[in-house]
Amino acid sequence: SPLHPLLVSLPKCEHHLHLEGCLTPDLLFSLSAKNNIPLPPPSEDPAFASPSTLAERYTAFTSLDDFLHYYYIGFRVLVTPEDFEALAWSYFLHAHREANVRHAEVFFDPQAHTNRSIPLSTVINGFAAAASRAESELGMSSLLIPCLLRHLPIADSHSTYTALVEGEYFTSGVLGGIGLCSTELSQPPHLWAPIFTDASSRGIRRTVHAGEEGPPAYVTLALDALDAMRIDHGVRAAEDTHLLTRLAAEGVLLSLCPVSNAALKVTKSVSDAPVRALLDHGVRFSVNSDDPAYFGAWIQDVYCAVQEAFGLTVGEWAGIVRAAVEGSWCEEERKKVLR
Ligand code: HPA
Ligand code: ZN
Repeated sequence: SPLHPLLVSLPKCEHHLHLEGCLTPDLLFSLSAKNNIPLPPPSEDPAFASPSTLAERYTAFTSLDDFLHYYYIGFRVLVTPEDFEALAWSYFLHAHREANVRHAEVFFDPQAHTNRSIPLSTVINGFAAAASRAESELGMSSLLIPCLLRHLPIADSHSTYTALVEGEYFTSGVLGGIGLCSTELSQPPHLWAPIFTDASSRGIRRTVHAGEEGPPAYVTLALDALDAMRIDHGVRAAEDTHLLTRLAAEGVLLSLCPVSNAALKVTKSVSDAPVRALLDHGVRFSVNSDDPAYFGAWIQDVYCAVQEAFGLTVGEWAGIVRAAVEGSWCEEERKKVLR
């Protein structure tokens, strides 16, 4: 589309980006060598023969859980604070240079690191160092958002949440909110209600991956039982017009990731993303990359893919970019600059 150069250069806010989802096959193999962490032998999974065979396997995900299997193998090679800092810095620098991202609210999965005996402080200090460097060197604002993991026992979520609160990571402003991600089917949101209710009472911002593979009812539960302020994905909300009307009325932002959805077979293709339904119902949404190193598309590529699929007008894009600013969790002073 002739709009691609404009879409690439538009000032952007990104709301749905997993820092560990920025680990490319090349970086995975080099950190595996540096830290002496073995990857699965190719005799067990031929995808691990080389970075290029792994990248090839990444083009053939069959579901969210098929992706998550590879995703959590990738975590193993992240060990030192410098590894975490370098990973996050690679995202901030790339997003700044290639996509003009001005503000990023980024996820990470603490439990999948502390599980391997990596201290919480190693993970958070490494990511926070990159975030402050992005602020000072790139003028980019960001929020770090830990996600609790649905595929692990609830007790794990409780202990991790307690450690985050007691470490004063929220009150000190190092962390900008709490999220919930990983496997969705058979892990209904309300199981996390005690944690999210506590977060709500402490004024900790809340966002929930819902309606990706799970039914529209999970989006409703995320709003009602978890007091979610934002819905990550929410694709399947489009199956329920009553829910769309509610999302519009309450001004809830959906962080859409149409390339991720196509990659994980949530939709057949990017053109099946509910972009038209959301625009028609007045539901706010932003356009995001999710796990760019796994889906082969960074935010500017996702903007262009959406344009190829929907042929939006410049005015419609202005509305999307504006909704992303308004739906961001930064201070009003920062929003004034972003507008
Ligand atoms: N859904 C759930 N969990 C995730 C995702 C996702 O798209 N990406 C990384 N963790
Ligand atoms: Zn996600």
